[in-house]
Amino acid sequence: MTAPLDNDRLLRALMREPVDVTPIWLMRQAGRYLPEYNATRKRAGSFLGLAKNPDFATEVTLQPLERFPLDAAILFSDILTVPDAMGLGLYFAEGEGPKFERTVRDEAAVARLAVPDMASLAYVTDAVRQIRSALAGRVPLIGFSGSPWTLACYMVEGGGSDDHRRVKAMAYSRPDLMHRILEVNARAVTAYLNAQVEAGAQALMIFDTWGGALSSTGYRAFSLDYMAQVVDGLKRESEGRRVPVIVFTKGGGLWLEDIAACGCDAVGLDWTIDIGLARARVGERVALQGNLDPAMLFASPAAIRAEVGRILAAYGRGSGHVFNLGHGISQFTPPESAAVLVEAVHEQSRAYHEP
Ligand code: CP3
Repeated sequence: MTAPLDNDRLLRALMREPVDVTPIWLMRQAGRYLPEYNATRKRAGSFLGLAKNPDFATEVTLQPLERFPLDAAILFSDILTVPDAMGLGLYFAEGEGPKFERTVRDEAAVARLAVPDMASLAYVTDAVRQIRSALAGRVPLIGFSGSPWTLACYMVEGGGSDDHRRVKAMAYSRPDLMHRILEVNARAVTAYLNAQVEAGAQALMIFDTWGGALSSTGYRAFSLDYMAQVVDGLKRESEGRRVPVIVFTKGGGLWLEDIAACGCDAVGLDWTIDIGLARARVGERVALQGNLDPAMLFASPAAIRAEVGRILAAYGRGSGHVFNLGHGISQFTPPESAAVLVEAVHEQSRAYHEP
């Protein structure tokens, strides 16, 4: 369980400590683009059958690491486990994405919300423990959660949404109700992430997928302030080592300086910002993670290698960069393209880390 890490590049890069090559992992690295994932999912019967069973969750977490020399594992789970544990009834309608049986749209539903007992999320912490032991120190394990705002988006809308009409209407017309949801979510997310650290997570990532849907002032009030509250409540050391925290707001490029000041160790970038400009803006304050357009994996190997070269050159010399996609890998990605990417990052980045 506490075996020393064979490969700790991820943790070192997140703390901006020297590395031999730039570490890489892929958002949604365990997923439907891998035939072995689809086979396990079939055996499990459904996505939730997979995510709620620690044996299956361990199996699929390890699958991408068997194929590619990735520098991190990420817990196989979902951000929506938290509202599910709040009693909202998560389900997946075939081909339609996540849905909730009960939404949180009125005063009464908001009043009923409470921080769930972490015992109802024991399948997640059990999976963390099991994955750690299966990894046996190969690479660090990343735990994660949705941001309070992104969870609120699904809780109020009752599923995915193109325009976030209901959740934004609530934020702008009944900020009192929205703040009450966000306050409960922030406490739930803090407890959930700390439970993952206690079970063995070695780094944490907060996914703020929908922060970028807000106005500048809305983003600070409804998303960033609550992520700062979460970060402030996290256990930052475990097994004698720092547990770095990555905050990823999709579409957050305009607010980089503010995100970098929220208390996190690293900021996740989508593909819309130049990583060199991002580095110049946040300076030595945080590490950066990203920022290859996931659609680049539909291009030729030569184009993938060239884009890797461009991003590495834009970031420049020295540590503090964790290579990743700017968002989750598409289910239609050829696995061979992911192999080309991982190899290119390790090969081409060496020159940027030589003394
Ligand atoms: O990165 C990893 O490999 C870890 C696993 C992971 C999943 N979801 C597995 C998953 C992580 C980190 C998430 C986070 C997540 N889930 C987010 C934030 C990140 C992001 O993508 O912006 C969000 C918004 C969700 C909610 C969610 N879960 C959606 C919108 C969907 C449907 C997505 C789709 O592509 O259809 C899910 C289901 C889901 N979560 C799948 C996986 C592999 C696909 C489910 C399947 O097997 O059918």
